[in-house]
Amino acid sequence: MTQPAPRVFARIAGTGSFLPETVLSNDDLAKRVDTSDEWIRERTGIHQRHVASAGQTTSDLAFEAGRRALEAAGVAASEVQLLIVGTTTPDLIFPSTACIVQHKLGANGCMAFDVNAACSGFLYALSIADQFIRAGTVKTALVIGAETLTRMLDWSDRGTCVLFGDGAGAVVLKADEETGIISTHMHADGAYQKLLWNPVGVSAGFKLDEENAGVRVLMTGNEVFKVAVKTLDAVVEEALSANELDRSAIDWLIPHQANLRIIQATAKRLNMPMDRVVVTVDRHGNTSSGSVPLALDEAVRSGKVQRGQLLLLEVFGGGFTWGSALLRY
Ligand code: UT7
Repeated sequence: MTQPAPRVFARIAGTGSFLPETVLSNDDLAKRVDTSDEWIRERTGIHQRHVASAGQTTSDLAFEAGRRALEAAGVAASEVQLLIVGTTTPDLIFPSTACIVQHKLGANGCMAFDVNAACSGFLYALSIADQFIRAGTVKTALVIGAETLTRMLDWSDRGTCVLFGDGAGAVVLKADEETGIISTHMHADGAYQKLLWNPVGVSAGFKLDEENAGVRVLMTGNEVFKVAVKTLDAVVEEALSANELDRSAIDWLIPHQANLRIIQATAKRLNMPMDRVVVTVDRHGNTSSGSVPLALDEAVRSGKVQRGQLLLLEVFGGGFTWGSALLRY
């Protein structure tokens, strides 16, 4: 009698990350805009951020993170069947950053594309790769979150320029009979477009010469803050109830690194002590799509996250977009 095919999971086989060398401190920023180290630390938890150097692109950061993840997984670039880059700061309008990274890695020939879901890009990409692996279409995928968000900041706007940094993180997913990604829940609500956006583009026009319409991030920070806290509460509840899990089952919360106060609010909701929460926002700032995979890689390499542990990853960003991934590492 034919046995039913075993269920296939997408399991993390290796992680990697990369931060550009240049570090910008809060004191450095206080020389440019009317702010202070004290204000930034108190309101955001950020002490410093990394900034890509001139000529260093998103694909450079993504390549290095991807290379390290492949090395950690013991997977050759030629084995990658699917390469997705979550980014809202692509090198070029086209080709996609994923195509550029694919060529740099020597993974030529595999399916490669970008996902733009602002800060949620990495989890969106992870959820897509998970579907391909569960369906049996793909056995090995490289998923990267990479950004050079500092390239589109208004350095005279203290409400945004102190928040963001550059960086990239990556995971190699392999088809496995052992449990890996258990669930992903992704959402978007375009009604919130104008609370956090960059209002220029190809079809809408570049508008570089119009006042207030340069290539820059615009954000109504306190409104975003309120929706983010409420939405992240809901998304962690959604992940737990969909899997009939009690909050005590989670070993590590790996949240989007936008603001320490938002992270603390989600941890409180989960009844999790902060020593079970991975925090990198103090040193990285908000690296958008890079934030969760950077935090994951740091937690794996430092030995915090161990094989077999249950991880809850969550994100929130422009769009608005948001979501979670529950996985056994
Ligand atoms: O990854 C995507 C998701 N993004 C987020 O989740 C970001 C969410 N928002 C936030 O993290 C916070 O709203 C901010 C950190 C951006 C701002 O903190 P806040 O506590 O919400 O401050 P606020 O915007 O209500 O501003 C309070 C005051 C204002 O001054 P007045 O009007 O009270 O005189 C601002 O002008 O703080 C002022 N302010 C600053 N002061 C010093 C704003 N930015 C700065 C600054 N330094 N950098």
